Amino acid sequence: MKGTDVVDVVIAGGGIIGLSLALELRLRGLSVTVMERGQAMSSASWAAGGMLAVNDPQNPPALMPLCVRSWDLYASYLDRIESLSGLRVPLRTRRTLQEPKSPRTSNGLATTAEIAELAPGLYPEGHSFEWLEEGSVDPNDLREALPAAVRAAGGKLLETTEVLGVESTVSGVHVQTVRDSISAGMFVNCCGAWAGGQRWGGVPVEPVKGHMANVRCDPNRLRCVVRTPKVYLVPRGDGRVTIGATIEQAGFDEVVYEAQIKELMDSALLLLPEATIPSPIDAWAGLRPGTPDGLPILGAAKFEHCWHATGHYRDGILLAPVTARVMTQAMLGETPDVSLEAFAPTRFES
Ligand code: GLY
Repeated sequence: MKGTDVVDVVIAGGGIIGLSLALELRLRGLSVTVMERGQAMSSASWAAGGMLAVNDPQNPPALMPLCVRSWDLYASYLDRIESLSGLRVPLRTRRTLQEPKSPRTSNGLATTAEIAELAPGLYPEGHSFEWLEEGSVDPNDLREALPAAVRAAGGKLLETTEVLGVESTVSGVHVQTVRDSISAGMFVNCCGAWAGGQRWGGVPVEPVKGHMANVRCDPNRLRCVVRTPKVYLVPRGDGRVTIGATIEQAGFDEVVYEAQIKELMDSALLLLPEATIPSPIDAWAGLRPGTPDGLPILGAAKFEHCWHATGHYRDGILLAPVTARVMTQAMLGETPDVSLEAFAPTRFES
């Protein structure tokens, strides 16, 4: 075992959670190395819809304080990434038409005239919508900018570097990778859908597959996110409209299946009849990190000097800034902005 480098923190996982945490730790003066088994930002962080869905009625109520704090932090988070990387990451939309969970009287619902203003291409027949003041980003923008920002801040990002094991010692950890070993003060598991399993101390994270696709539409015909229980539409502002997403227990299968994409396209085209399907079809599938209670896992692991920041399920893009903030605070022994009690890894221990 070579074991040469020594850093304050090693993070396993170069997705949006691992990289955002690396950035925050760097800005607090810690040396950080991120180890990513493939390419940074190439799994769920890239496959995501990018909705900053603070008020999605599908979210568990206990998630709300994290969602609200993260949305508060979002503008400064994007500014920081932009100023470090020199790459712009704009909010692509600023409002959402959400179909309420249970039917409502017209009170508080979006009017036909309001819908026609921001979404003239929408065919809302049979649906009712309310307005939510929520943004969205295009994960493709973050894919380049976030790794560049981490590097510009002095963080080390090692791609194609799988962590094979972590050993706790009295004063820190030894992290064994496919080609080397490294000593660190702390280790954080940010491995997304791959964060479960004994290697990391057995947190119950399971992959939840989502099929997604892009259709095309005149950008002026849809300028807000539209969300129904069946499908969501996220316009990117350049003619692409990202549609999603299935929710499937399919293990680590990332293959794209025609039947699931067709079903998504059918639902999307009922809402946005003038959208066209590109040829060849632009479709993909990603694996969300699911947990038994739908809440992320944030806090100290059962091994000394080890931490988990994973299990963000459908909200990793939204929750990246707050996760970076509260994990940094917890790791430095400070009181986190949001209580982490509901998200403690220990909640699954019997
Ligand atoms: N973030 C939306 C989804 O997981 O489908």
